[in-house]
Amino acid sequence: MGSGQKTWGTPHHVLIFPFPFQGHITPMLKLAEVLSLSGIRVTFLNTHHNHRRLLSSPGVGARLASRPGLRLRSIPDGLPEDNPRGLTEATEIIAAFDATAPPLYRDLLSSGGADHDGAPPVTCVVADGLLRFAVDVAEEMGVPIFAFRTCSSSSFWAFHCIPKLIETGVMPFQDGCDLDEPVACVLGTESFLRRRDLPSFCRTKDSDDPNIRFLMDLTENSTRYRGVVFNSAEFAESIVLSHIRGKVRSTYPIGPLHGLLQAVEHSTGAVGDGGGDGIPSSDSTSLWQEDRACMEWLDARPTASVVYVSFGSVVPLGKEQLLELWHGLVNSGYHFLWVVRPDMIVDGGVPAVVAAGREERGFLAEWAPQQEVLGHPAVGCFLTHSGWNSTLEGMWAGVPMVCWPFVSDQLITSRFVSEVWRIGVDIKDTCDRAVVEKAVREVMAGERSAQMRAAAASISKTARESVEVGGSAFKNLERLIRDIIKSINSSTP
Ligand code: UDX
Repeated sequence: MGSGQKTWGTPHHVLIFPFPFQGHITPMLKLAEVLSLSGIRVTFLNTHHNHRRLLSSPGVGARLASRPGLRLRSIPDGLPEDNPRGLTEATEIIAAFDATAPPLYRDLLSSGGADHDGAPPVTCVVADGLLRFAVDVAEEMGVPIFAFRTCSSSSFWAFHCIPKLIETGVMPFQDGCDLDEPVACVLGTESFLRRRDLPSFCRTKDSDDPNIRFLMDLTENSTRYRGVVFNSAEFAESIVLSHIRGKVRSTYPIGPLHGLLQAVEHSTGAVGDGGGDGIPSSDSTSLWQEDRACMEWLDARPTASVVYVSFGSVVPLGKEQLLELWHGLVNSGYHFLWVVRPDMIVDGGVPAVVAAGREERGFLAEWAPQQEVLGHPAVGCFLTHSGWNSTLEGMWAGVPMVCWPFVSDQLITSRFVSEVWRIGVDIKDTCDRAVVEKAVREVMAGERSAQMRAAAASISKTARESVEVGGSAFKNLERLIRDIIKSINSSTP
């Protein structure tokens, strides 16, 4: 691939199979596009529900159809159409998918799927690590399989350390335990990790918590794959990647994948289109319709004057939290562009005060072209839930952050933002209006603002270098492609 040589015409055919959430589809679809541009035939397997949503965005179907050797397939997720499919339904989604998907996936591996369109057989799978059945079926069929983990490597590593956290008494959390107590057994993070920074599932008081059992299953599974692909980068997470390398067969940190896709597009001469009126941003993978009016609103704002607020695709917000956030933003005195998904507010719609007051200082969008927004010169701060994709996108754009993490890996990622990369402020567990106001002011123009801005610019530069030919992500991609091709010659995992 580095030499530009295509493997077209060869029998390599990779099936890419994400967990059915936006935060998983986005990086795995980008990997599918990267592999297809690199000469590998790819089938991307979505659920019917998400497939329809993805293709309903103008321009997305045409872009994906233009990727050589990329075909899209979908299967049912086992849920009724009116199921909201949000974070609160995660257990239900996993159970329904575990019950519905395995025979259809097995069929795709054995015969190319129900439509038998003449594609050569699948020779290798890259499956989301959350899909436990994917590795069982691939092993049964003798098809080599790699895992893709969409979380940061540091949270993957913290999940890996759960047995140690239990052994050393950090978990389960006891009533009144000190959340600021340092945690020593997540090697590589000893100097800055506190109990409160562990992924939210670790906050359980029940030693037999089903979420913890699920995570431990995933950890045990991770040795069954040919390797684990991370949407992460050596420069950002080397302190944990070195420990992970001792536990799994191979690691492939190839992030930020949206940057790698751009680099591969340029190196192969396939440059994306779109970005005009009503057209989604060039490499959009959005399941929601992007509101492009916010770009015009940004155009009218001075450089680094706007706070962009987004909590990703699944985080729910209570009305109280929403009001604290609203008042904090208004009191900070800055203009803000705020994504409020239609399904985001759990106990009612947008409160009257927000609806009435937004014209003055803010722009509310149901869904924004986030990568473009972050790249807009008017954006001076990213108030984020510290989802891993959002964090990488913020890093790539060089925008300092205020981190209000909610669940799972977001709690450890926000600590890395504030203490390791020093590109933002972490307000976990303390997010009232006064804290929001103070943190926004700190990032926008406080004492440490210039330092954070310089660190963010520097990490953005490093990220861009890492995806170019010869950079660490690019080299890891080349190694992944070599290993995928090699795996076809050996069916013994
Ligand atoms: C979740 C987790 O938070 C994440 O850490 C995990 O690894 C994957 O699943 P999510 O909570 O949705 O994902 O957040 P994030 O990982 O940040 O992904 C959200 C994606 O939606 C980002 O790529 C972001 O650019 C996109 N987005 C969000 C938009 O395109 N427009 C919006 O308005 C909001």
